[in-house]
Amino acid sequence: MCGIVGYVGPRPAPELLISSLQRLEYRGYDSAGIAVPDGGGLAVLKSPGKVRTLGDRVRSEWAPALREGARAGIAHTRWATHGPPTQANAHPHCDQSGRIALVHNGIIENYADIRRQLEAQGHTFASQTDSEVLCHLVGEYYRDGDLLQAVCAAMRHAEGTLGIAVLCADRPDQLIIARRGSPIVIGIGDDETVVASDAAAIVAHTNRVIYLNDDDVAVVTAGSVEVRTAQNVPVSREVAKLEWDSEAAEKGGFAHFMLKEIFEQPDAIRNSTRGRLDEGAGTAKLGGLAMAPREIAEIGRMVMVACGTSMHAGLVGRFLFEDLADLPADVEQAAEFRYRNPILSPRDLVLAISQSGETADTLAAVREAKQKGAVIAGLCNVVGSTIARETGRGVYLHAGPEIGVASTKAFTCQVSVLLMMALKFGRCRRLSRDRGVEICRAIAALPDAAARVLEQNDAIAKIAAKYAAIRDIFYIGRGTMYPVALEGALKLKEISYIHAEGYHAAELKHGPIAMLEPVVPVLAIATDTPGREKMVGNIQECRARHSPVIAVVSGDDRQFDDMAADVIRVPACPALTAPIPVAIALQLFAYHVARLKGCEIDQPRNLAKSVTVE
Ligand code: M6R
Repeated sequence: MCGIVGYVGPRPAPELLISSLQRLEYRGYDSAGIAVPDGGGLAVLKSPGKVRTLGDRVRSEWAPALREGARAGIAHTRWATHGPPTQANAHPHCDQSGRIALVHNGIIENYADIRRQLEAQGHTFASQTDSEVLCHLVGEYYRDGDLLQAVCAAMRHAEGTLGIAVLCADRPDQLIIARRGSPIVIGIGDDETVVASDAAAIVAHTNRVIYLNDDDVAVVTAGSVEVRTAQNVPVSREVAKLEWDSEAAEKGGFAHFMLKEIFEQPDAIRNSTRGRLDEGAGTAKLGGLAMAPREIAEIGRMVMVACGTSMHAGLVGRFLFEDLADLPADVEQAAEFRYRNPILSPRDLVLAISQSGETADTLAAVREAKQKGAVIAGLCNVVGSTIARETGRGVYLHAGPEIGVASTKAFTCQVSVLLMMALKFGRCRRLSRDRGVEICRAIAALPDAAARVLEQNDAIAKIAAKYAAIRDIFYIGRGTMYPVALEGALKLKEISYIHAEGYHAAELKHGPIAMLEPVVPVLAIATDTPGREKMVGNIQECRARHSPVIAVVSGDDRQFDDMAADVIRVPACPALTAPIPVAIALQLFAYHVARLKGCEIDQPRNLAKSVTVE
């Protein structure tokens, strides 16, 4: 949940590290730090708060000779787990000698034991973090100038997850990088190497990258990358090409990444579906699933495991698999799944849905399903992510990088891909070609439908202005619009801190209706989809309690004009694709409410983009 950057090359390292770190700030933003070689030792600067604060301090506190002269370094932006976001707990951490600095993503599970052992050997610690313990461990194993073997030994000793970059004053021209369960990407430039926990920090420098495997350790200099296993055995890793360019990681004139990503949805959905629809055969082509029609026909049950927004996409997917593929489908919160004793059979397909591909609970659910012999597949956005690798088969979203902490385009692309999967599965089972052709056409029309919702931006912003001061709101929906209601409420609470609850419309009168009063609005999804007629009654129930209703309706539907205080119009779509335009409208509503409240939209309090801890 933190961000790591490292650099070795001919350019002044501090400025490059700070600007690259800023591109990772969405991963965590409570404190930051940097270490560079300095006159035979190391200069380390750490600061609570944003990377900007750290950058200001580097410019004011470090002499020009250091700022301009350092040609290597490591930096980190933190999302606190072990210990509050103080200067002492910020990374980089140093070993006992002060000559080795380390930045770490992940959790060292046996850090308390290691700390006790090292304290008994005379080590003293400045922070409460597990990461500092790991750095001291590297220092303890560091003998005869061989930092590589010290890192390998520390990796064998430490349990848990780690992505690390290590800098040693004795070798100011090299970094040691290692990975176990927490991603590290090595970017190969012209006579320079940039390493990071996320390609967003690399893409401005190069598009040639090496993704480390778990338990890989790499020695990195300006002109070379040498990869070994944690047993110190040389291995070769292929150089891949990054799919996206540096503009993809910029705001591109938008006030926030979230708004940019909302507006990217027509293109993102186009990219997710491009080349994957076979209208002639009324099916979808998803080569990454690597499943023959017979294998698909033999699946007995779909189990989707995911968290947050990805789980909401799975809840929409459940309808699609049941409707189109006649396939029983369950959706499980990944943490629940891993800690229950789930009953799985080899005929179950467990589909892990994760934008980042790094969510700890979803990853653990994949491992549990693998252990129990189920077929597993991934639906990820980040290429080369841990879940994508561990599932070994699946479908990439191709939505482009999602930087905004509140997930937007990933959701609509996940639903688009689930729709294509359900279509393909259906065609291998009982779905007719004619129905398949209809669905292909509905999917192909999605980018245009998304663009038409975006045309409502100003209208939605005006409605949002009326609700920016509320404290509570309910979102209600039925059928596929129930998970969309959950997702709409999640978006609003994440970025505006308004208490928003998503409910099935039928559930309202089983309790939550007690909360309704004139200051508690209800956003009711009343599109032309199954359940609409019942929604009329639900809206009347809310009005009877004097709650203002914001109705989301299809096209020109006028039925709700008199019942609702406000009406948001989305283009009329076939029921199967309708969740997408509605979700976009709710993203815009949440965005404008948060903007009007002056919230930090791209970096909401307490959140980080990928949740790599339980
Ligand atoms: O990367 P993942 O899709 O696995 O992330 C899952 C959730 O952490 C994520 O969707 C979270 O709920 C977002 N902040 C939602 O906007």
